[in-house]
Parts: sequence; structure tokens; C-alpha cells
Amino acid sequence: MMSAYDVIKRLRAAMPEGVTPKFTTGEELMAWQKEQGRIDSERLAEANRLTRMQRVLGRSGIQELHRECRFGNYKADMPAQQEALRKAKSYAGKFGTGFGGFIFSGGCGTGKNHLAAAIGNELLENGKSVLIVTIPDLMMKFRETYQDGAKTTESKLMDDLCKVDLLVLDDIGVQRGNTNEGVVLFQIVDRRLSSKRPVGMLTNLDAKGMTELLTVRIMDRMTMDGGLWVNFDWPSYRRKVVA
Ligand SMILES: Nc1ncnc2c1ncn2[C@@H]1O[C@H](COP(=O)(O)OP(=O)(O)OP(=O)(O)O)[C@@H](O)[C@H]1O
Ligand SMILES: [Mg+2]
Repeated sequence: MMSAYDVIKRLRAAMPEGVTPKFTTGEELMAWQKEQGRIDSERLAEANRLTRMQRVLGRSGIQELHRECRFGNYKADMPAQQEALRKAKSYAGKFGTGFGGFIFSGGCGTGKNHLAAAIGNELLENGKSVLIVTIPDLMMKFRETYQDGAKTTESKLMDDLCKVDLLVLDDIGVQRGNTNEGVVLFQIVDRRLSSKRPVGMLTNLDAKGMTELLTVRIMDRMTMDGGLWVNFDWPSYRRKVVA
């Protein structure tokens, strides 16, 4: 077998004039190989995460529209907005230390998706998997699994939803919930929390509306282990941009 020294000698000989090799000693070569191994396994983990997102939704975990939403580009003029920003940042910072979820409740265009995506984008950068999905989209995915020739099964879809590090359910209460929706949501929240994985929720409903829609059983779980409730009660940012 060739020694590391031989390999380096041969590589040197094969290199064009003026090119400095990445390593000059056996130790450096070993370190380089180890580093390549680490990069390869990170790539693999990343590919697995992407495959899971693709399988669940046919897209990556955060919609294109919210890819640029960060804490840094969230304008917080009002004290309540600053407080929401601070809480969202701190949630992202503490992620993984508990399984408390978050509920962002408030009117249209107040930045619930913006701050949820900012949390998600930060977690993605730290190698976590994140999925933000609207309830209507999610219910459509479940309905698709009941059809003949479906690509995935209901239990597989449920498994995938329960495996992502952070799942954010968007637009809760937008469509009138049917019984099946309640059952699916309860199962998602219950299964995720029992495996200590948090759920985020975005809604226009207030606490009373959320409890009526999701029942006390779900709301009780959502507020476990330091779950966070933030009211987004300021005017729409969309209107502001137009004006
Ligand atoms: N304070 C803010 N600073 C910068 N951009 C903001 C702010 N609030 C909202 N936006 C932007 O305005 C748009 C609408 O915000 P977003 O989608 O987060 O609202 P929302 O609360 O989810 O509304 P809805 O209830 O209608 O879904 C987004 O493009 C978002 O990036
Ligand atoms: Mg929204």
C-alpha cells in the first residue's frame, strides 16, 4: 500500500508548476480526508432533509415569498413590535432546549409569517429542518393520500410531519374546520409534543377563537413547557407599503 508520503509525492509530481498542494505532510492529508468526510456527511444530512420536505409538500420548507424574511429586516417601530421581535429572536436562540411551541395571533399583514420565517431561516442555517405549511394546503395533502394511486399514505405523511424539527401551521381558522381537520391537527400536535418537538401556529383568531376551533385539549398542549403566545395587534404592513 502507498503511504501518505508517497501519495503526496505523486500528487506534487502531477501538479502543474506554481500550484501549491493543499497539504504537504501525511497529517495534513489525513486531516483533509477527515474534513472531506465531514463535508460529505453534512451534504448527505442536508439532502435527506430536502428529500423529506420534497416528499411532504413537493417544495422546500419555507416558501419562496418568505425566504428573505429575517429578524434584521423586520421593522419594529412600535414597542409591541419590538417585543414580538425580541420574543421571536429569543425563541430561535433557545430552540432545542425545550419543546414549547408558539402562537402568533393577529390581523392581516402584521408580520406573523415574517417572524415565523425569520425563526425558520435561522434554524435552517443551524442545520435544523423546518416546515411552514398552511392548513388548507395540509388538508389537501391529506386528502390526496386517500385517493387511488396516491404517492404516499396518510401515516407516512403524518410521520414526515412529526419528524421535522419545527413545524409551523399557518392560516389556522381561515377555512371552517371540519371534524377530520380537528382530528388531524390533534394528532399532529399530540404526536409532535410527545416526541418533544414543538409546533408553531399562525392565526387571525384570538385566544377564544383558537380554543373554540382547536379545543381545550390542543390548546392545553400548545401552552405546555413555556409555550409562547404573541399578539400582533398593530396595523397591516401591506397597507403601509402601498401608502
Ligand atoms: N414589521 C415589518 N417589517 C418588515 N416587513 C414586514 C413587517 N411586517 C410585515 N412585513 C412584510 O409584509 C408582508 C406581509 O406580512 P406577513 O405575511 O408576515 O403578514 P401576516 O401577519 O402573516 O398576515 P396574514 O394574516 O394576512 O397572513 C410580508 O412580505 C412581510 O415580510
Ligand atoms: Mg400570514
